[in-house]
Amino acid sequence: MRVVSGMQPSGRLHLGNDLGALANWKTLQEEHDCFFFVADWHALSANYEDTGRLRDHVRDLLLDWLASGINPDRATIFIQSQVPAHAVLFVLLSMITPIPWLERNPTYKEKQEQLEGRDLSTHGFLGYPVLQAADILLYKAEAVPVGRDQLPHLELTREIARRFNSLYRTGVLTEPDALLTQFPKVAGTDGRKMSKSYGNTIHLSDTEAEVRQKLKTMVTDPARVKRHDPGTPDVCPVFDFHKIYSDAAVTEQVNRDCRTAAIGCIDCKTLVADRVVARLSPVWDARAEIETDPRRLEDVTQAGRARAADVAARTLEEIRDAMKI
Ligand code: TRP
Ligand code: SF4
Repeated sequence: MRVVSGMQPSGRLHLGNDLGALANWKTLQEEHDCFFFVADWHALSANYEDTGRLRDHVRDLLLDWLASGINPDRATIFIQSQVPAHAVLFVLLSMITPIPWLERNPTYKEKQEQLEGRDLSTHGFLGYPVLQAADILLYKAEAVPVGRDQLPHLELTREIARRFNSLYRTGVLTEPDALLTQFPKVAGTDGRKMSKSYGNTIHLSDTEAEVRQKLKTMVTDPARVKRHDPGTPDVCPVFDFHKIYSDAAVTEQVNRDCRTAAIGCIDCKTLVADRVVARLSPVWDARAEIETDPRRLEDVTQAGRARAADVAARTLEEIRDAMKI
């Protein structure tokens, strides 16, 4: 199966990304022909005014991927802006995409309201899903792993593919299916959903000291004020971490000992910090290893770009034929 997915470069990845998208990608790369790319043009759509850190973000994202086990021997890893065919197909699809389809897109209005203060009344921001459709259709993706928020974009991609095929009486474009990524519930240090916009994240690239410090200050069951107050693990975000990172025996023990106040929050957090550190250690080692080779990222993206450009060129040829260009 051909699988395509992208991420916007917008800063270092956190544990939520690791448990959701990255875990999914790692499984998929073992069994399918995966294309994973850094969507740097997409990042411009809402951030075109401030591109100062764009290259750093691209680099950080690639480092996070490779350190976490996204494997260039298995998947094609590339940077969107290095494969100009994405822009070519974007132009062609723009010609056939009705503006009302884009104005109806729920994420368009939502994002515009969320990101108030920025001028997002641009052509590129409205056309974001057309570029995304180009990313996907260029590779004839059959499956696109995405989070729930991306489902409207996937539906638009399918509609654009259908419209293209029917206008030009062809079967060139493949309608992709969304592979909905499951995100285990992981809270940030303040107890809200872990998210960059809340500033409550634990990054894959944090140091061990930072990880331990963040977990130490994490909110717990608010009813457990004193050491001898019994707690309710079900309402405690630290317990969610145990469920993800600790083995069943420890999780069960914490579950019991918290309710009787046999364990205190400080010890409970140390237990979980040890598990998170154990999970991240191989990622830290891999990152350090990659960083010893200054050409590694470039080698990976050059190889990925060559493979992606090759597949994309062939699809574009068929598209030009279908459109009689
Ligand atoms: N829009 C996606 C997001 O914000 C990123 C993206 C761009 C993407 N192009 C894509 C995802 C193609 C899947 C396929 O998460
Ligand atoms: Fe949460 Fe652990 Fe404290 Fe119980 S003991 S409230 S699970 S941190």
